[in-house]
Amino acid sequence: MMIFLICLLVTQEARSVGIMGALDVEIESIDDDMTVEMVDTIGKKTYKIGKIFNSPCVLVQAGIGKVASAQTAQTLIMQYGVDIIIFTGVAGGINPTLDVGDIVISKDVIQHDFGQVWPDSFVPFDTFGFYADSSLIGLALDAVEKVEFVPVSARSGTHGKIPRVVLGRIATGDQFISSEAKRRWIEEVFNADCVEMEGAAVAQVCAAYDIPFLIIRSLSDLANEDADVDFHTFVLHAAQNSSKLVKEILNQFVR
Ligand code: ADE
Repeated sequence: MMIFLICLLVTQEARSVGIMGALDVEIESIDDDMTVEMVDTIGKKTYKIGKIFNSPCVLVQAGIGKVASAQTAQTLIMQYGVDIIIFTGVAGGINPTLDVGDIVISKDVIQHDFGQVWPDSFVPFDTFGFYADSSLIGLALDAVEKVEFVPVSARSGTHGKIPRVVLGRIATGDQFISSEAKRRWIEEVFNADCVEMEGAAVAQVCAAYDIPFLIIRSLSDLANEDADVDFHTFVLHAAQNSSKLVKEILNQFVR
């Protein structure tokens, strides 16, 4: 009987969620809704431990790029024993049907800069990615219906557009893409929907420890020659919309 009760308590324990973003702006609105119980610094990253809508969470700004995000994901898993990792932030659009402000929920994630350089070409080592957790994807798709997104005035000229949300492929590399030629290459070679600088590294660390993950990215730019200007114009609202979706997912955990 005692053993049964202990098992019941253990299985009923809420799952702890690691929440990551690269930039301050990508996590600040999540921080606003967090009840922080403890703050730690490990490897020059600040980990906030507490609850969001009663869901146990560890929130961290990982910094930019694959190394910083892999380091942080590993710490979330090894030091804080998180059961799930969700990464939130912005990305450059690769799928030409998507506009600034639209949101990509990861079906899978690949590295676009991992491969072999030849005199006239670059051959990726891998065009297969890491698959995001299907139940987290399901929760995210349900959450989309409940979120009131901030309208984003997109480049295409549509002002105050409510984001379109797609399930898609995210390409990761240690490069900020501001080139239409490179955007087209990533589209053709990887069939990706957006590009960013952390997701596949987090996914690879999660896969090593069998930790379910999900990456949510809202488009701040279209990875072309205007990307630098667009990024600064749209990053705030794009980041807020991605965070809103993450918060609604957490809200569903506690139901
Ligand atoms: N994050 C936001 N925009 C990006 C881009 N164009 N390339 C890489 N990462 C990004």
